[in-house]
Amino acid sequence: MTGQENELRVLVVAPTGRDGLLISNPLDSNGISSFPSATAEMALVEFEAGAGALILAEEALTLPAISLWAARIAEQPSWSDFPLILLAAGGEINEESRRRMRVREPLGNLVLLERPVRPETFVSTLQAALRSRGRQYQMRDYIARNHAAEEALRRSEKLAVAGRLAASISHEINNPLASVTNLLYLIGTSSSLQEAKKHKEIAEKELARISEIVTQTLRFYREPSKPTLVFITEIVDSALILYQSKLAYAEIAIERDFRECSPIVAMAGELRQVILNLIGNALDASNPGGRLRIRVSNTREHRNGARPGVRLTVADSGSGISPEIRKTLFEPFVGTKGDTGTGLGLWISSEIVNRHSGTIQVKSSTLSQSPGTVFSVFLPLEQKAGHRSLREASMTPDGNRKDTLSDSPPEIAFPMQREMAT
Ligand SMILES: Nc1ncnc2c1ncn2[C@@H]1O[C@H](COP(=O)(O)OP(=O)(O)OP(=O)(O)O)[C@@H](O)[C@H]1O
Ligand SMILES: [Mg+2]
Repeated sequence: MTGQENELRVLVVAPTGRDGLLISNPLDSNGISSFPSATAEMALVEFEAGAGALILAEEALTLPAISLWAARIAEQPSWSDFPLILLAAGGEINEESRRRMRVREPLGNLVLLERPVRPETFVSTLQAALRSRGRQYQMRDYIARNHAAEEALRRSEKLAVAGRLAASISHEINNPLASVTNLLYLIGTSSSLQEAKKHKEIAEKELARISEIVTQTLRFYREPSKPTLVFITEIVDSALILYQSKLAYAEIAIERDFRECSPIVAMAGELRQVILNLIGNALDASNPGGRLRIRVSNTREHRNGARPGVRLTVADSGSGISPEIRKTLFEPFVGTKGDTGTGLGLWISSEIVNRHSGTIQVKSSTLSQSPGTVFSVFLPLEQKAGHRSLREASMTPDGNRKDTLSDSPPEIAFPMQREMAT
């Protein structure tokens, strides 16, 4: 039998004599597949291969058997609540019967049937147990399907991110590359050595820029798959390099407001993905002449016991987010960009921030006199006890040791646009 065929079979640790027949006859006549086991311990081995319920006689449930089954029951996955039907000896309720009940408590979903049991009672109890087991399997399958869908979504988002990143890198490299091509042509046609030297110097600068883009990108994408000590400011700078020419082309003024900022233990590549998306969204929403302010500072969270951490705010004076979109902003496939966006960026970003035990918030206004949006990300310095030693070695950006945190700097006031609309 396969695991799936076993799923609704009933394991039977049969009592002897009349009760044994009482069990096997109605099971057969009701088309319920059963599997006899000599002891409760042997039934446990069968349980691993799949079962819908267990029927056992009280005398087969020894103390060692209870502890074995209880340990296995405690390990059940969240969807499972395996039904056990215990055929107990009849008799009055006394101290001893109460004690036995307490001992059996760790067995979980246990139904007690007093012997002699009427066949109808027995069959209907068993059918109810198998029905409930069937529902548990449905829940298991639902969870598995959801998990698979989420995994697929994550993979597709990773591909989308990789695609967008490749596009931004090509775009950024293309401009200096075109300059170098032109400059080489100019050098070839230069009438004087002095003029050729001037062109060569500019070409060298353009090549240095290409090399910087490549180095920064590789640095983050070759990073180890475990958390390291990172400065948010460095990640912001590396992300801005990618958007440099887009910012200039769109005539958007950028203000970097980097205050005292401790390193945090984090996955640098993941945080870079969050920051690239926040800046990218701000640029998409901005018009020529718009402003973008990125602030990074040490802070203490107002909630959650005033945890110390780093706050990153990305504020733009763009179109703002409409209330309808704002309601579901952090859910997958919510977006207004059609083919140019997947609507997954903020959903993935919030997942990443959650994984770092942080929070992400948004404030936005679509009012024509002061439109704009502020995304605020809080990342705590310490996420897990295991990260403590790295935290203790924290350094300031200029390389000095930094053990204390400044008090919370003022949050970026909203609307940020008022501050920016100078
Ligand atoms: N700074 C912002 N200003 C205005 N609207 C924004 C801003 N940030 C996000 N949005 C809105 O939220 C939507 C969802 O953003 P999200 O980053 O999740 O997806 P996307 O940018 O549409 O697609 P992707 O990130 O995959 O390129 C955007 O389509 C846009 O409508
Ligand atoms: Mg986006």
